[in-house]
Amino acid sequence: MKQRVEELKKQLNYHNHRYYVLDDPVIADGQYDLLLRELQQLEAAHPDWVTADSPTQRVGASPVSAFSSVAHAVPMLSLGNAFDQEELLAFDKRVADVLRAEGLITATQSIAYNAEYKFDGLAVNLRYEQGVLVRGSTRGDGYTGEDITSNVRTIKSIPLRLHGDSAHWPEILEVRGEVLIHQADFLALNQAQLKRGEKAFANPRNAAAGSLRQLDPRITAQRPLRFFAYGWGEIQMPVLNKQVDLFSAATSADFKAPPYSSQSEMLDWLQTLGFPVDSHRKVLNGVTALMNFYEQTAQQRAELPYEIDGVVYKVNHLAFQDVLGFVARAPRFAIAHKFPAQEATTTLVGIDVQVGRTGAITPVARLEPVFVGGVTVTNATLHNEDEIRRKDVRIGDTVIVRRAGDVIPEVVAPVLDLRPEQTTQYVFPTHCPVCDSAIERLEDEAIARCTGGLVCAAQRKQSIEHAVSRKALDVDGLGTKLIEQLVDSDRVKSVADLFTLNELELASYPRMGAKSASNVVNALNAAKNPPLARLIYALGIRHVGEATAKALAEHFGDMSHLMTATEEELVLIDDVGPIVAASIAHFFAEEHNRDVLNQLTHVGVQPQRIERQPIAANSAVVGKTFVLTGTLPTLTRDEAKARIEQAGGKVTGSVSKKTDYVVAGAEAGSKLLKAQELGIALLDEEALNHLLL
Ligand code: IVH
Repeated sequence: MKQRVEELKKQLNYHNHRYYVLDDPVIADGQYDLLLRELQQLEAAHPDWVTADSPTQRVGASPVSAFSSVAHAVPMLSLGNAFDQEELLAFDKRVADVLRAEGLITATQSIAYNAEYKFDGLAVNLRYEQGVLVRGSTRGDGYTGEDITSNVRTIKSIPLRLHGDSAHWPEILEVRGEVLIHQADFLALNQAQLKRGEKAFANPRNAAAGSLRQLDPRITAQRPLRFFAYGWGEIQMPVLNKQVDLFSAATSADFKAPPYSSQSEMLDWLQTLGFPVDSHRKVLNGVTALMNFYEQTAQQRAELPYEIDGVVYKVNHLAFQDVLGFVARAPRFAIAHKFPAQEATTTLVGIDVQVGRTGAITPVARLEPVFVGGVTVTNATLHNEDEIRRKDVRIGDTVIVRRAGDVIPEVVAPVLDLRPEQTTQYVFPTHCPVCDSAIERLEDEAIARCTGGLVCAAQRKQSIEHAVSRKALDVDGLGTKLIEQLVDSDRVKSVADLFTLNELELASYPRMGAKSASNVVNALNAAKNPPLARLIYALGIRHVGEATAKALAEHFGDMSHLMTATEEELVLIDDVGPIVAASIAHFFAEEHNRDVLNQLTHVGVQPQRIERQPIAANSAVVGKTFVLTGTLPTLTRDEAKARIEQAGGKVTGSVSKKTDYVVAGAEAGSKLLKAQELGIALLDEEALNHLLL
């Protein structure tokens, strides 16, 4: 029975590693749970068989009232920073000068570095004695940290016992690395927090820190913490000569030689012992290669599942690392090359609301200028009314501002400790600041909208800007400023009015010369015969993007058919659902929208006629929708599709009421069942050929 316990532990640890470290599980979750339950039952019957490395010990430890402190056997130091190429060059030169002075490299030799990601989480030290995890601690002040063993055990990607042959395990091994939370897990965690009425975390790092410092490990166990190893503390290799007295006479010859001599080999070794090590690490020679690694990483940063705040370069040879040693509290052999910070704090001086093209009201934070994410930011989005309420951001607050990659800057949270006295909660406006129409918010919608429609100058300006944009009528030279002036002077009320502008009057607007005025008029003339799809898109109907506009153009062939289409007709079109159909019908039901279309015709805007592809039309097939399923005896799926399309039919991927025929071959599956359920005509290859004749 005891043997079974050992076997279960081994199996569970193995499956855990496959799942959490390799991301490649080989059994189903249910099977894992069965094994775990079996072990729990055996251990319950024989409590003396429970060991520290048992998978049952990951959860369930009781809460503590405070963490005790742990002195680090080897201090946990920090890294020096480089913020630009110059500082990186200076670092490389310092390293080279020392190694050359020691005669370890030649005058021209470049230095090999191990380049790693700099994870934005929390440093921890994991101590293994005889291969078993005995302690986890935080960095603390570098010399003394906090004992968070029970919490660390709950992190599934951290092995409770080293992998591989125990004969090769070090007597003592301290592994250092970063605990972090993936971006996606963080968002889910925050949602769950809010649902429970608890506070959301400002960022993944804070969430990871808060989770690791929980006094109740059962809470930590529910947090999606992960771990990456990047270094080590104390290591004692297994003793070869068992006679030696460890505390006095031992020399390195008495120990098994460590299986590594460089940073990169060390990380490989840690990986074989069961630790997650980041796969982006690379050995690189010389500063140019480091710069390339930095640039490349900066580009990929936004797509990574976790946050990094830079890259770290470490002299690869451990013998060189030893020679270089430490200055103050940082190693001389390593440096962090930091990315511009994505978050900064600043003062919120005001909140304005912006009115979008469809009337959407977006609250915008006006900020004391702050340098963040590589640029100076003065405005940041507050998203919507609920977000402001949730974050309780108030004018006068010190706020955390975030700008990640090219994403628009946002206000993350106020720093409550710095809140001035006598601030008041922000009250969302009830009327549009531009046209004074009522602001309305539909049930179930996060977005509030100005009800002014084209009465609202803000919506008018933006709908005109949209109409002339590149994917719509594509009129060059009509910028935001000019449109603003044209609307403010009441000269232009709709996109149709643009086509009545002449060079002379255009030239009278500020910053417009005769040349640019004539360019605008020429561009407008050139835009008078757009493809129908572009004209439909230019109208700015809610929910009608480029693809839907194209589908509508192809289906109706001209504007007048589209204008009179009913919702029932509209939903028959692929990709048009009830919401889009309602929005289109609603748009054309508005008199002022129909007026604009009439005016467009009046000023000479005439969409190009739709040229349908010449097809060998076959009346039984034209306009009919086919779905292919299973394997046909002679035709491949692509061949069958091409033939149907050639005859004027359409092939779609899923069976619905709109499907006319399902062509079924051997081993047809759920699509065939669905077709039978809906009573749709079934064809085999022969019947299809017959139809296509
Ligand atoms: S090495 C003596 N490597 O950055 C060298 N640190 O600013 C110790 N960090 O406290 C650190 N990724 O929390 C190292 N690949 C990496 C790292 C890394 C993130 C963190 C770590 C450390 C801090 C130093």
